[in-house]
Amino acid sequence: MTDKAKLIVDGKTYEYPIIIGTEGEKGIDISSLRKDSGYITFDSGYANTGSCLSSITFLDGEKSILRYRGIPIEELAEKASFIETAYLLIYGHLPTKAELEKYSKAFTDQSMIHEGMKNFFDGYPLSGHPMGILSAMIGSMAGYYPELIKPNPSKEEIDLISVELLAKVRTIAAFAYKKSIGEPYVYPRHDLKYVPNFLNMMFASPSKPYEIKEVVVNALMAIFILHADHEQNCSTSSVRLVGSSLANLFASISAGINALWGPLHGGANQAVIEMLQKIQADGGDIHKYITMAKDKSTKFRLMGFGHRIYKNHDPRAKILKARADALFKELGINDPLLDLAKQLEEIALKDSYFIEKKLYPNVDFYSGIILRAIGIPVNMFPVMFAIGRMPGWIAHWKEMLSDPNIKIGRPRQIYMGNTLNHFVPLEKRE
Ligand code: CMC
Repeated sequence: MTDKAKLIVDGKTYEYPIIIGTEGEKGIDISSLRKDSGYITFDSGYANTGSCLSSITFLDGEKSILRYRGIPIEELAEKASFIETAYLLIYGHLPTKAELEKYSKAFTDQSMIHEGMKNFFDGYPLSGHPMGILSAMIGSMAGYYPELIKPNPSKEEIDLISVELLAKVRTIAAFAYKKSIGEPYVYPRHDLKYVPNFLNMMFASPSKPYEIKEVVVNALMAIFILHADHEQNCSTSSVRLVGSSLANLFASISAGINALWGPLHGGANQAVIEMLQKIQADGGDIHKYITMAKDKSTKFRLMGFGHRIYKNHDPRAKILKARADALFKELGINDPLLDLAKQLEEIALKDSYFIEKKLYPNVDFYSGIILRAIGIPVNMFPVMFAIGRMPGWIAHWKEMLSDPNIKIGRPRQIYMGNTLNHFVPLEKRE
């Protein structure tokens, strides 16, 4: 294979280096294209643009492969905890026993939020969306760490901020939920691990202690692990873009949360439940909705089916399906909406339209039904995604900052507006 790509434009030939990733991914380095030729590339949605070299996550949509630092997510979901996964993503290797103990202790120690921050929650209306609250609170954390928000933090300072963020995000999320239902906040407990601690803060109340069930912990842990990174998606790219200006990690993550909030990104699991509720309210006729999904004129799609990258199956969905089955069985859940979801899945998977177009249930189909079974309210679904994605965002921000050639993100555009046009005084305008 040639090691240069040739571009012929205006009769001149330019040569650009070819970059091959460790898994054989191919790219053309066009960084000097504009300087050489005066041209830029146009790639709406960046679908063909590699914005960085990264060693964090490998994804192959054709082969349904997703690996963090080389380790298949199937192994991580089976054998690792969320904290180990976070360590792996952020530090590039699995922690030793001593490293894991130290890391876990740091989470316990840092899980409380500053008492002053509790006043912020009081300022929000009960209907305030938890994603808006989460992003504002994470941005506000910068106010409590003035010594940590300088442009070039040391390695130790980055470690400290990332632990603060990972430890406190679940406390903030749970407090936002408690505020929305008008219940008193439940403080983090030092005797509980990451996921049980979060569940306890969400669901315990002064009148009703929360019984922590292993099957629930396992299901939520799997959701967090499987959402922990997905390379250059919209929110992670937002974190990198904001961070490329040397904005601090709190500000960069806050931007990532806002990017994740959109229904095309972190909101799809919510859309699954809303679709099921619609089918239920309409009499539960699944065949009617399958027919609608196949009829282009209706613009209706089965939410939670299909994926832009995974054209075989979504490897995350396979794992979550098993967790969902275990959860329903052990909890003896009897929820008509969940029954509807299972029937829909069964019918769609046998339908030739879905088979031919390779439309399988994606991660959001199962995460939506698991979160509902656990009792997480629908508007908190994207918040669960944000907690899970936090290690990935931190790892990417850290990786970018450690690049000695870090450049501020600054795409170009092709201007299509007016050419030179002069100011017209108000009295002469028509
Ligand atoms: N229901 C019915 N038909 C569908 C669906 C669906 N859910 N998804 C795709 N199709 C059809 C589509 O109409 C098209 O048909 P045709 O070839 O006849 O025009 C064909 O399948 C290919 O669809 P596409 O839109 O070209 O595929 P895409 O890769 O651009 O879209 C997708 C992927 C996820 C946007 C799409 O499958 C979809 O809208 N799914 C429902 C929403 C959803 O569940 N989103 C969550 C994705 S997972 C998020 C994550 O990983 O973070």
